[in-house]
Amino acid sequence: MLKLMSFYAPRNLKIVRGEGQYVWDDAGRRYLDCHTGHGVAFLGHRNPIVVEEIRNQLEKIMVLSPVFDSDLKDEVIRLLEKILPRHLTHFYLLNSGSEAVELSLKLARRITGRRRFISFINGFHGRTMGALAMTWNPSYRRDYDPFPWEVEFLPYNDAGAVERAVDEKAAGVIVEPVQGEGGLSAATPEFLKAIRDRCDAAGALMIIDEVQSGFGRTGVLWAYQRSGVEPDILVAGKSIGGGFPVSITVVRKEVGEKIEAGAHGSTHGGNPLALAALKGGIRALLEDRVVEKAAEAGELMGRMLEKVASDNPESVRGVRGLGLMRGLELRWNPAPCIQELQSRGVLALRAGLTVLRLLPPYMITGRDIEELGEKLDDSLKTLAAKKPGG
Ligand SMILES: Cc1ncc(COP(=O)(O)O)c(C=O)c1O
Repeated sequence: MLKLMSFYAPRNLKIVRGEGQYVWDDAGRRYLDCHTGHGVAFLGHRNPIVVEEIRNQLEKIMVLSPVFDSDLKDEVIRLLEKILPRHLTHFYLLNSGSEAVELSLKLARRITGRRRFISFINGFHGRTMGALAMTWNPSYRRDYDPFPWEVEFLPYNDAGAVERAVDEKAAGVIVEPVQGEGGLSAATPEFLKAIRDRCDAAGALMIIDEVQSGFGRTGVLWAYQRSGVEPDILVAGKSIGGGFPVSITVVRKEVGEKIEAGAHGSTHGGNPLALAALKGGIRALLEDRVVEKAAEAGELMGRMLEKVASDNPESVRGVRGLGLMRGLELRWNPAPCIQELQSRGVLALRAGLTVLRLLPPYMITGRDIEELGEKLDDSLKTLAAKKPGG
């Protein structure tokens, strides 16, 4: 029988349906979804506005190259203007986060004529070759070099290292405002300011990767906006299409105006269903006060996690992340805890080697958070009791 390559550890769980913050398995059991397909379903499963937009579009046309005009494209542009930083004036739509990162790197290379990049320890930017070059995890990189460009990995949140390493040979610096896969560390404003200053001094481009942290997940629209700096390029993906594969690379005027036809392209990028999904995603974000609700729920999550951490000091080192991009740093591999949670009706995932990551949809309720806290506490206590000396 044909086999799917198993790049991820299997969960041995068959999910058949999703609605809002929940999914159901084939036995009818409900789970609170804090996995959300690696953070994609931030707007909830089958968000009604996204479903409505995709359904309407299915009745009209499914394939249309971006070389043709459409009312839908104009509507999406008007909606994007409401959520994108004003200083960024040109965009391109792609299908995955990696592709959008790839374009950001190609643009920085082309605009500066340089081929050296700076990235950060524990950073994750995707798996295609250009994006993988910026991804730190040595096990993801093994056997794939040489990469298309040089990269130096600096310690995250180390402004001094940025000042030393970003010189006139650098094409760009790529950074996540909150590291997703790498362990949920949040950038300090001073660190992002140091990157901005060094990029200005060296003529390099500052690329902010908000594929995981963006679109309200951390309780502000774009997580970098907490710092007050303005990047040259912003990359987003995951939740912007409400569950449909859509990503975006957005650039400053000076970059957008210098790029000529042929510099990049994509067959499916910005196809009508993706545009409809993006339209639905942005409408949902604006019409249901998603960012504010994520900030409120994020506060509750933070308080709940602090309590779980203080009640389980033998298992938990501390609380990580911001808003609804949260986690617990454990003293051990989080895999058994993820299993325990799954058996109690919660789907979670890991980040880095020791962080249990929770990426729930914005509509998670106070009651869901309370129950999640009880299940976390119960799972950690069960595992601590099984440990030698526990
Ligand atoms: C910050 C960041 N950048 C890029 C990517 C790559 O996105 P994709 O898996 O859609 O290619 C991810 C995926 O997890 C991510 O978290």
